Order: sequence, then structure tokens, then C-alpha cells
Amino acid sequence: MNINYKNTTIKTRPSVYEPSEDSFLLVESALSEIKGCEKILEVGCGSGIVSAVIKANTKASIVGIDINPHAAKCTKENGIEVIRGDLLSCIKGKFDMILFNPPYLPTTEEERMEGWLNVALDGGHDGRRIIYRFLEDAGDHLAKSGRIVMLLSSLTGIEEVKSKIGSLGYNVEDKREERLMFEQLIVIVAKKE
Ligand SMILES: C[S@@+](CC[C@H](N)C(=O)[O-])C[C@H]1O[C@@H](n2cnc3c(N)ncnc32)[C@H](O)[C@@H]1O
Repeated sequence: MNINYKNTTIKTRPSVYEPSEDSFLLVESALSEIKGCEKILEVGCGSGIVSAVIKANTKASIVGIDINPHAAKCTKENGIEVIRGDLLSCIKGKFDMILFNPPYLPTTEEERMEGWLNVALDGGHDGRRIIYRFLEDAGDHLAKSGRIVMLLSSLTGIEEVKSKIGSLGYNVEDKREERLMFEQLIVIVAKKE
């Protein structure tokens, strides 16, 4: 399937997260946060939609990383430099901005599905397993004045995640939000002053 959005056309693939409201809320937040030629990393880039829209509409340089090989291939086909890897484990260097639309659904053993789409959605029993792993390491990859721009959902516990981010020494601001039928989405910006 082709998706057209803001001067960008991307192709999606089976076994790769299909861009949804969360993807577009993150990209709109990132576009309003980027200043000039910044160096950006998108963790969990999926189809590459967020990175591709940023590349087409800003002067920033952007690289994606995803653990799903189909997502890495899809992002590459959509014109974005990409690495296949687990969160930040194989990332070297520092970035002005790290973006993440994480797998955030609280998921029990019984709810877990086979295949790569589960990896796009499954946030562990409380929805925060991947988010917390990411947050523990993100600071090592932020340049001076660097910030994390991350999507959160009411299904995951927005206050719990904000409190974790605060405990790691960041200031957190709400950037944008959107109410859907069964959840509230919010994008936060976290930075250390
Ligand atoms: C909700 S999807 C978001 C995809 C895309 N950024 C978007 O907004 O449409 C989450 C993405 O995170 C990736 N992911 C999950 N766990 C990961 C990990 N440990 N390391 C890297 N990527 C991961 C998934 O494969 C999936 O592509």
C-alpha cells in the first residue's frame, strides 16, 4: 500500500506496523520541534513514515533503527538510512533528537501473537517494558541540549512514564495530544537542562 503525507509517498509492507494516528501525531510534533540541520535518530522506525516526512520537510539528517528486519527493509526502500538492531544497543554517537513511537500495549502471555507485528505492539504486562529499557539508555546518546520526543498512550499510564522520565533527570513537557475512541495519545518532549 502507498501512503501520501506532506510531500512524501511511502510504501508499506506486510509484517510492518501500518502508519496510524500515533505515527502522524509523532511526526507533527517532531516537525514543530526540529530546528535547522539537526541530527536525529528514530528508534522503532517501522515503515519509515516518520523519518521520511522529516527528511522531505526539514534540513535535519535522520537515521532509523528497528529490530524487525522487514521494517528495516521497508524504511530503506522508503529512502531512509537504517540499521537493524535492538533499541540503542548498536548505536554509536549522539543526536540532537531521538524519536520513538514505542510498542506500548499492555499484553499478557495469552494475548501475545506470533510474528513481527506483535513486536510493534507488545509493551509487556504493563505496556512500559520497552519504553523503560529505551529510557535507561537514551541519555547516553543525546547531544548537549538533545531531547527525546516520544509518543505515549493512556493505555500505558502516562503519569507513570513521566515520573520515570523525571527520575532519570529530565524535564518533561507535553507537546501534542489526541483523543481516540479508547485511548488518549500524547507526545512528550524530555530534555536535561
Ligand atoms: C508502534 S510501531 C511504530 C512504527 C513507526 N515509527 C510509526 O510510527 O509508524 C513500533 C516499532 O518499534 C519497533 N520495535 C519494537 N521493539 C524494538 C526494539 N527492541 N528495538 C528496535 N525497534 C523495536 C517495532 O518493530 C515497530 O516497528
